[in-house]
Amino acid sequence: MKTPRHFLSLLDLSSAELQAVIARASELKKLQHAGETHATLQGRVLAMIFEKSSTRTRVSFEAGMSQLGGSAMFLSPSDTQLGRGEPVEDSARVISSMVDCVMIRTFDHEMVETFAKHSRVPVINGLTDLLHPCQLLADMQTFTEHRGSIKGKTVTWVGDGNNMCHSYINAARQFDFNLRIACPAGYEPDEAIVDAAKDRVTLLRDPMEAASGSHLVVTDTWVSMGQEEEKRAREKIFGSFKVSKAMMQEADKDALFMHCLPAYRGMEVDADVLDAPDSVVWDEAENRLHAQKALLEFLLR
Ligand code: CP
Ligand code: NVA
Repeated sequence: MKTPRHFLSLLDLSSAELQAVIARASELKKLQHAGETHATLQGRVLAMIFEKSSTRTRVSFEAGMSQLGGSAMFLSPSDTQLGRGEPVEDSARVISSMVDCVMIRTFDHEMVETFAKHSRVPVINGLTDLLHPCQLLADMQTFTEHRGSIKGKTVTWVGDGNNMCHSYINAARQFDFNLRIACPAGYEPDEAIVDAAKDRVTLLRDPMEAASGSHLVVTDTWVSMGQEEEKRAREKIFGSFKVSKAMMQEADKDALFMHCLPAYRGMEVDADVLDAPDSVVWDEAENRLHAQKALLEFLLR
């Protein structure tokens, strides 16, 4: 049996493979917008295990599989044996014997690694506490479509050193851009992930300084899924890390704003930033569909 390729992290594909996926994503987007059929995964089945909530990830994978001529199956822990304690290893063997690909959104990153180890089909990380690589495919596609190559550009991450921030660090390595991260003390990204990208990543405390001259400003919620109990404390600590119009004015005149969504207006980002013309959050969300269709084709064909 050939070992399948997985997509648990942006580092699982080479830079060239990632570029090819993104180029194909833009092609698939054109086909989709032109109403042309593109059933390249006829009859193929994707199982989607969701242990956390989702709007974009679920809708994009499910619609995407159907547009490619296949189908997707939604599995939640409350109605599978996974939720009743069947080991991940056993679930992986069984589920992967019946479908062509598995997407997992869960808490512990080790769970997707264990699943992948015992799966005979490709496994896609649909978000863990550590990483959110699918979102970065969409973000890189969106930047490229609006501004051309991101290589050599400066990107600013403002806020929590969370799963999205970690994936931006990996993206800085794979897509060759400089990343400035402005986060409060105690909320820095994982040291090992930063260390591996040392030459491309700078950690700062002042978000204004971090945004200065930047080509892309990105933020995310201060309270990720699973951190609900820390909400009040985090809102106090992150207060000065809100992306505002004044912060965007520090950035390059052609700077874009991105947010993986869901966004909380008035918390991590002001409404007038999210709804401004240089905010590409809706394209970014739509591109989840096209980027993941390209990823599915890459992994399954
Ligand atoms: N950005 C993102 O992954 O959104 P969902 O949580 O709605 O899937
Ligand atoms: N950092 C957020 C991203 C949501 C798509 C979370 O993990 O909840």
